[in-house]
Amino acid sequence: MAFNLSCACVIIGCIFASSVKTSNISDVYPPLWKESPGQFSDYKIENGKYIINFWSYPDRLGTYKILLNKTAKYFAKFSPENEQNILWGLPVHHGWQYHTGRLADPTQSTDCGRKSGDHLCISVDSWWADLNYYLSAMPFLAAVDSGIMGISPDNVTFLPPSKDQMNFCYNVSHCHSSFPEAMKKWNEFYQSHSSSFDDLLESLWAAHVSSLDVARKNFQNRLKYYSKQEADFARSWALFVDYLAPPRFPTTLIRTYEFQKELPRRMLVSGDKVPFISDFSGFQNTVLFALNLLHKVHKYTGTLSLILWKALMKSTVARKLFLEILEFILHSFN
Ligand SMILES: *[C@@H]1O[C@H](CO)[C@@H](O)[C@H](O)[C@H]1NC(C)=O
Ligand SMILES: *[C@@H]1O[C@H](CO)[C@@H](O)[C@H](O)[C@H]1NC(C)=O
Ligand SMILES: *[C@@H]1O[C@H](CO)[C@@H](O)[C@H](O)[C@H]1NC(C)=O
Ligand SMILES: *[C@@H]1O[C@H](CO)[C@@H](O)[C@H](O)[C@H]1NC(C)=O
Repeated sequence: MAFNLSCACVIIGCIFASSVKTSNISDVYPPLWKESPGQFSDYKIENGKYIINFWSYPDRLGTYKILLNKTAKYFAKFSPENEQNILWGLPVHHGWQYHTGRLADPTQSTDCGRKSGDHLCISVDSWWADLNYYLSAMPFLAAVDSGIMGISPDNVTFLPPSKDQMNFCYNVSHCHSSFPEAMKKWNEFYQSHSSSFDDLLESLWAAHVSSLDVARKNFQNRLKYYSKQEADFARSWALFVDYLAPPRFPTTLIRTYEFQKELPRRMLVSGDKVPFISDFSGFQNTVLFALNLLHKVHKYTGTLSLILWKALMKSTVARKLFLEILEFILHSFN
């Protein structure tokens, strides 16, 4: 059954890949992918350590680029060109955060992240950027720790942000002591690299949810900087990710790209009335409406809906069915 599922995933992946090849595969990469650092030597070195500034978009994106490059060998058996690497979901989503203005300073007190200002800057006040820190720094450092990056764990360190330094970690040992559970899960993911595609997805999602759980708790206070519409969407989105984990949504390059085309292409403002936002497509409005509805159902049932959903998704057949329905819906609208 597990074999059938990975087969199905690969076949669906091929369908997606061929539908995009007709346009241009480089369009699916995150913005500035080509220009960002692609190896450790592209970063500054001080006292024998690589210094990475996670508050600069190209620097943060570059860590994903190295990660994708170093893990490519584990996914080569599933498809050529690393397309089926399930770590693609992270940089592709981060690219969406960047080009929709979600990494900018939401308090508007600086020009960090503004198109007209310091446009490569990532703001520590951005809820999206802070959550993503736990989904970039941790997977990266755990990979260093697991030995797959080819450098010693003591040889890399990150620059702290301008405030709330206690909420972040900056090197392998520091992240392990600050966020032991999430780091352990990321390490387990890298150690499972010889498993089946389905098992890889399971351990990736376990690590993802673990990072997200701590991040959500630590950065709730950021949501006050946003319009009610954007804050609702942010909460609903983070919750939706909890629902994407049990069916083990395959976060490969083209599938993630197709999926997030349906997410809001700019920050939501107080005048926006879901699902009647005029500069969004009908489908984008529907997706937004559905996400908010899920949040309401989840709250109304006191999280019972998630418990039931997890139980249902223990069945391989149910998982496969759900993913096929999701693909079908996405395809009919694309
Ligand atoms: C795809 O896009 C890239 C950059 O936008 C461009 O350099 C390349 O020539 C394009 N390839 C095709 C086949 O259109
Ligand atoms: C990394 O660490 C080793 C010792 O563990 C050291 O010899 C080396 O110079 C360090 N720096 C770089 C950039 O490799
Ligand atoms: C990884 O990066 C190296 C150096 O930039 C490059 O030669 C190699 O082709 C890349 N591998 C993959 C699978 O992208
Ligand atoms: C890691 O970071 C912590 C906290 O900033 C620091 O105390 C420690 O010396 C660092 N360890 C290494 C190996 O750089």
